[in-house]
Amino acid sequence: MLAATVAVLPLLADGPVLRDLADTRGITYGTAVTASKLTGAYGELAGEQFGALTPGNEMKWESVEPTRGSYSWSGADRVVDFAEAHGQKVRGHTLVWHSQLPSWLTGGGFPAAELRTLMTDHIAAEAGRYKGRVDYWDVVNEPLDEDGSLRRSLWYEQLGESYIADAFRAARAADPDAKLYVNDYNTDGLGAKSDGLYALVKRLIAQGVPIDGVGFQAHLIIGQVPATLEANLKRFADLGLDVAVTELDIRMALPVTDAGLAQQKAEFARVTTACLAVARCVGVTVWGFADSDSWIPDTFPGQGAATPYDENYVPKPAYTGIAEALGWTGGGDPPPAGSSCSVTHTVQNEWGSGFTAALTVRNTGTAPLDGWKVTWEYGAGQRVTQAWNATVTQSAARVTAVNAAYNAAVPTGGSVTFGLNGSRSGTNPPPTGLLCTTGS
Ligand code: G3I
Repeated sequence: MLAATVAVLPLLADGPVLRDLADTRGITYGTAVTASKLTGAYGELAGEQFGALTPGNEMKWESVEPTRGSYSWSGADRVVDFAEAHGQKVRGHTLVWHSQLPSWLTGGGFPAAELRTLMTDHIAAEAGRYKGRVDYWDVVNEPLDEDGSLRRSLWYEQLGESYIADAFRAARAADPDAKLYVNDYNTDGLGAKSDGLYALVKRLIAQGVPIDGVGFQAHLIIGQVPATLEANLKRFADLGLDVAVTELDIRMALPVTDAGLAQQKAEFARVTTACLAVARCVGVTVWGFADSDSWIPDTFPGQGAATPYDENYVPKPAYTGIAEALGWTGGGDPPPAGSSCSVTHTVQNEWGSGFTAALTVRNTGTAPLDGWKVTWEYGAGQRVTQAWNATVTQSAARVTAVNAAYNAAVPTGGSVTFGLNGSRSGTNPPPTGLLCTTGS
């Protein structure tokens, strides 16, 4: 481990920092982690390079409630505490899944009514424990079969489709501020399974179920990254939901070759670019940042090397591919705006504890805009309290504004204005890092 630490330190000092590059582009770059490893080089990289953490196993039912009524939070606490200490977001994974359930639950022979209560009690306990500390919850994980029908899981077989709505409602009740996601794999491109997910999500929306986002796991294989990834993300975003790539890895046959690593670099970049191109894509999470912390070799013998760092925490070409897709040019320069819109921020009114600001997005490109996103930082503790003509969210200093459905389209040379009220406790300096990006 010592050798690995030595290998990492120069990178930390000189190289790109994915979380900062991603911030500048208005998305979050995260990683799944293993709680017990969060020290040494692994901990340094996890803390420095990534803006969000997902516990790889520590929040699953068998981890947190191995015995009925007896909770074990130490692994999950460790990840959440680490994230807070490093200013990172947390993606909670996962509340309701067919896998990694404790045997007392799977073998309990519970009647439907009791099983439903066990499920909602579990959600209340777990999401309630981390209320206000988890940014996104994978509320229901992998609810679909490959043909797009609902998976014949314990939950579905016993409770029917309504288990999904009940799970989301229980999660919303337990933590009203967390963004609630459904999450699945092999749904990354257009196809039968993602059609099934799309239909499910539409049904949930029609029923008024509190769902905020859709996670696309993206456990991919080199040479088989779906060409329709961006189009697929976009169609879910167009339902009015956030989308995210939640478990990205791109595996290859071992031993690795230079050609394989080069292709993997291009494909990590491609997935990152797809998220950047969709305004409601909130970020990308890699499923383990190092090949020594990846599930692939155990599950697919003969395959591996699926993450951006090798077994010794040395960054691979894939890492550079991500950095470049986020705008890194090799010299530590800030990424180019790369957009065809500009934005201004004007304080229109100020009073003792607050202010009103107007932001104007202008199409400076040569084609009409179909969606836009503006990001900035309020550096003096200002908080957005109300907004109009855009969906505005704030996480610490960072503010993100996404177009409303009715003002996504901006003709060439045209502009749209949105506004907000903010609170302040002292001075009200102008925002920093004000950036407009395009795409829907
Ligand atoms: O902790 C035990 C250890 O004590 C024991 O010695 C060892 C022996 O095999 O097993 C360890 O547990 C393993 C656990 O990971 C922690 O490493 C389990 O066997 C192993 O099955 C488990 O695999 C996890 C897998 O989910 C289970 O389905 C992977 O780490 C985890 O990365 C993976 O994550 C899933 C997502 O939750 C959902 N999407 C797919 C993704 C990949 O399968």
